[in-house]
Amino acid sequence: MTIGFFDSGLGGLTVMAEALRKLPAQDYVYMADTLHVPYGTKEKAQVNDYVLQAVAMMMEKGIDALVVACNTATSIAVTELREKYAMPIVGMEPAVKPAVEMIRTTGKRVLVFATPLTLQQPKFYALVSRVEGEGLVEPLPLPELVRYCESLQFDPDIMTAYFREKLEPYNLDDYGTIVLGCTHYPFYRSILRDMLPPHIEVIDGNAGTVRRLSALLTRYGIANNGSGRVELMCTDGNPDYIAKMETALGYARELEY
Ligand code: DGL
Repeated sequence: MTIGFFDSGLGGLTVMAEALRKLPAQDYVYMADTLHVPYGTKEKAQVNDYVLQAVAMMMEKGIDALVVACNTATSIAVTELREKYAMPIVGMEPAVKPAVEMIRTTGKRVLVFATPLTLQQPKFYALVSRVEGEGLVEPLPLPELVRYCESLQFDPDIMTAYFREKLEPYNLDDYGTIVLGCTHYPFYRSILRDMLPPHIEVIDGNAGTVRRLSALLTRYGIANNGSGRVELMCTDGNPDYIAKMETALGYARELEY
C-alpha cells in the first residue's frame, strides 16, 4: 500500500524519514507544494486552498493513507480533508502535551517554535489551554527558519547566530523544554542541541505521528504491504527541487531521535 506524505516543502521529509525507519515495508509518495511554499506567513484561506489543490494532485497517484506532515496545513485544513477523503489521514500538531507533562518534573517553562500561522490559530490556543492553565507555555514564531531550510542552509555558525538572536530575550534557565512545532525545524535539532544549555529538552511530534500512522494502518489492515519505495514529487514539477528533496531526505534519515 502507498502512504502519501504532504508538506509545503522539505519539512515533511523529517517525518517521512521516521516512517521509513519504523515502517520500512510500505511504499511512499511525498508531495511538496513548491508553487506555494512557505505557508506559515500566508493567509489562512489561501493556505486552505493550496492544501486542497496539492492533496488533490497526490490523490491521482492512488495513495491509501495520508500524512499531513505539516503543522500549519494540519491546523488549517485537516478537518476539510477528512470530510473529503475516505482514507486514514494523520495530521500533526505541536507536541505541547508531552512538553506540559515534562513541566511536572522540571518545573520549568515551555517554548513552542512554530510558524506564525500555526501559532495564530484558535486550535493552538485550545491545545495549550486544554493541558496547561498557568501560562507556562509560550509561542515563538520562527518564519525565517523555513526559508533557511528551503535553501539547505545548515551552516552551524550562521544558524547558531540566528538562534542566539531569537533566544536573546529569554532567560534560558527558566525553560525546560523547546517544542519544534514545524516539521522543517528538526533539521536544526543538533545545532540547537549544541547551543542550548543541557537541561533543555528539544522535542518534536515526529515519532508520535508515525506511531499513530502505524496504529491506523494496522486497524485498516493495510500495514506491511510495500517495499520501501519512495517517490518524490512537487507541485511545480521542478527537477532541481526533486534533487534538493533527495539531498534533504538523506539528511533527514541521518537525524537522531
Ligand atoms: N513545515 C510546515 C509546518 O510544519 C510549515 C512550513 C511553511 O511555512 O511552509 O508547519
